Amino acid sequence: MNRLMRGSHGREHWSYQIFSYLLLIFASSALPRSNGEDRLAIGMSIRGNQNLTSDGESFALGFFSPGNSTNQYLGIWYNKIPGQTVVWIANRESPLSRNSSGVFMLNRDGNLVLMDGTRYVWSSNISFANGTANNSTVVILQNSGNLILRDGMGMVLWRSFDHPTDTLLPGMKIGLNKKTGQNGLLTSWKAEDDPRSGDFAIGVDPQRPIQLVIWNKSLLHWRSNVWDGSLFQTTIEGSPNNYLSYIAYAENNDGFYLMFGVSDNSIVSRWVLNTTGVVELLSWQENSKKWAVLWGFPRDDCDIYGRCGLFGSCDTNNKPGICNCLTGFKPTIQKDWENRNWSGGCLRQTELKCDKGDEFIRLEGMKLPDHFIAAGNLTADQCEMQCQKNCSCMSYAYVNTSTVGVKWRCIYWGENLTDLRRIYVGGHNLYVRLDGSEVGQF
Ligand SMILES: *[C@@H]1O[C@H](CO)[C@@H](O)[C@H](O)[C@H]1NC(C)=O
Ligand SMILES: *[C@@H]1O[C@H](CO)[C@@H](O)[C@H](O)[C@H]1NC(C)=O
Ligand SMILES: *[C@@H]1O[C@H](CO)[C@@H](O)[C@H](O)[C@H]1NC(C)=O
Ligand SMILES: *[C@@H]1O[C@H](CO)[C@@H](O)[C@H](O)[C@H]1NC(C)=O
Ligand SMILES: *[C@@H]1O[C@H](CO)[C@@H](O)[C@H](O)[C@H]1NC(C)=O
Ligand SMILES: *[C@@H]1O[C@H](CO)[C@@H](O)[C@H](O)[C@H]1NC(C)=O
Ligand SMILES: *[C@@H]1O[C@H](CO)[C@@H](O)[C@H](O)[C@H]1NC(C)=O
Ligand SMILES: *[C@@H]1O[C@H](CO)[C@@H](O)[C@H](O)[C@H]1NC(C)=O
Ligand SMILES: *[C@@H]1O[C@H](CO)[C@@H](O)[C@H](O)[C@H]1NC(C)=O
Ligand SMILES: *[C@@H]1O[C@H](CO)[C@@H](O)[C@H](O)[C@H]1NC(C)=O
Ligand SMILES: *[C@@H]1O[C@H](CO)[C@@H](O)[C@H](O)[C@H]1NC(C)=O
Ligand SMILES: *[C@@H]1O[C@H](CO)[C@@H](O)[C@H](O)[C@H]1NC(C)=O
Repeated sequence: MNRLMRGSHGREHWSYQIFSYLLLIFASSALPRSNGEDRLAIGMSIRGNQNLTSDGESFALGFFSPGNSTNQYLGIWYNKIPGQTVVWIANRESPLSRNSSGVFMLNRDGNLVLMDGTRYVWSSNISFANGTANNSTVVILQNSGNLILRDGMGMVLWRSFDHPTDTLLPGMKIGLNKKTGQNGLLTSWKAEDDPRSGDFAIGVDPQRPIQLVIWNKSLLHWRSNVWDGSLFQTTIEGSPNNYLSYIAYAENNDGFYLMFGVSDNSIVSRWVLNTTGVVELLSWQENSKKWAVLWGFPRDDCDIYGRCGLFGSCDTNNKPGICNCLTGFKPTIQKDWENRNWSGGCLRQTELKCDKGDEFIRLEGMKLPDHFIAAGNLTADQCEMQCQKNCSCMSYAYVNTSTVGVKWRCIYWGENLTDLRRIYVGGHNLYVRLDGSEVGQF
């Protein structure tokens, strides 16, 4: 996957360099223009129903008002798909009113700005050390949906892909920057016709970046399984050659990233964190002229973070309720449990003595609990031995992460186990420490 990411960056860079020469010539000979072109030169602007259209015509940039909204935004949407599906917004937090006359321009100082009359509504906020950019700076709407600001040398100064709203397009990534500590997130819209930041955000877990999490304000709402590093692929139904959409995990000196991609650029697909806090993978079906939802997380009640409390395990097939206590545990408050209030979780039936009598039971097909601790690149036997020796090791798992450069395979958990469920397909074996007398009973 690292290779994949580097590969695509390499290509991108190449094409910038080649293009930049052509552009210098082209840009200076073809001024002025504004509508339906893919770029703006210094000092140029769009307003009203003028737009930029990417070369290839996949995306358009312009002013729009979602649904019945009385506000106006500057955004990017699919140009050829009916219904104006917006993928990026400049001024989601500072809308223009519908009747105001906004202007989007490449300012003489080299910044992208959105103005309402003389008021600055939004800016790309780049500080140029030497004051004014020269006349060869351009902003281009690329056919990937990326709006890029580029100087005369072909250096990319700013990219909309680095400032996502609620959508990931192929080629975009989210992740944690190790140097700045900044966590790139997608943030849901407030409502269907209100693109202001809503309650939900998705990003990598800052403590354990190989987990993906959705927050509901500051509360954890959903957590992915511990990522084993493999490509997370989804076949696009109805596409030729079983094209795929995938998510790749990559780590480099700058940070930890999840990158979204497709096996063929003709596939139109996107990730969106929707207004109800579900991250969906959608794909455009040309035949039916509809967006198909390929998957969405959380999928069900069991996917909601910590549904069954500590030491509880969720399974939608459980009867009568979805929560069970793990083997060797009992409900903390039996009455709550009977009333389908599982938040109190479960307690050990027999306290651990932490002696040679402790044993580990194996739970199969599990989503691994939250808060794992990496124990290093150990073999399965070493992993068990380490946990056995350590009284505060309650559980361990052996996760094969060989596909990425992560230097551990054995992971373990301390005092508490939370956010567990059965997942059958793609689940892991989880070994849980119990007093020997408990293991005998099962
Ligand atoms: C963009 O502007 C061109 C030229 O006016 C127009 O033909 C096209 O329909 C516009 N596209 C969008 C998406 O508004
Ligand atoms: C817009 O308003 C119309 C009429 O009031 C209503 O039927 C429609 O559902 C509204 N659309 C949205 C997106 O709220
Ligand atoms: C826009 O419309 C509102 C009422 O809908 C009005 O109060 C305001 O003055 C208008 N603004 C402009 C610039 O026309
Ligand atoms: C640009 O910077 C100003 C002042 O530092 C800040 O108020 C504003 O939110 C920034 N805008 C963006 C789009 O980051
Ligand atoms: C801008 O300043 C930097 C140093 O701060 C210098 O390296 C660069 O050449 C300058 N660029 C221009 C176009 O003057
Ligand atoms: C940029 O172009 C404008 C008009 O086309 C001209 O007045 C200005 O001097 C140019 N600036 C530079 C730095 O070349
Ligand atoms: C603009 O800057 C680039 C690189 O800094 C330089 O190659 C180019 O000649 C400059 N163009 C003008 C018109 O000053
Ligand atoms: C988000 O959290 C609030 C409480 O802060 C809760 O009322 C709401 O149901 C949660 N949303 C979802 C989708 O779980
Ligand atoms: C969010 O996605 C889920 C799963 O696809 C879907 O059931 C739900 O209706 C979506 N919510 C909205 C507001 O689109
Ligand atoms: C569920 O149980 C917890 C812990 O026992 C308690 O604090 C909470 O009030 C209960 N919730 C409901 C809705 O009864
Ligand atoms: C982990 O250890 C195995 C065998 O000891 C070795 O083959 C493998 O390269 C190691 N992996 C990493 C990522 O260090
Ligand atoms: C484990 O859970 C209990 C009960 O919620 C809590 O008091 C304790 O601090 C937790 N321990 C750790 C290490 O998080």
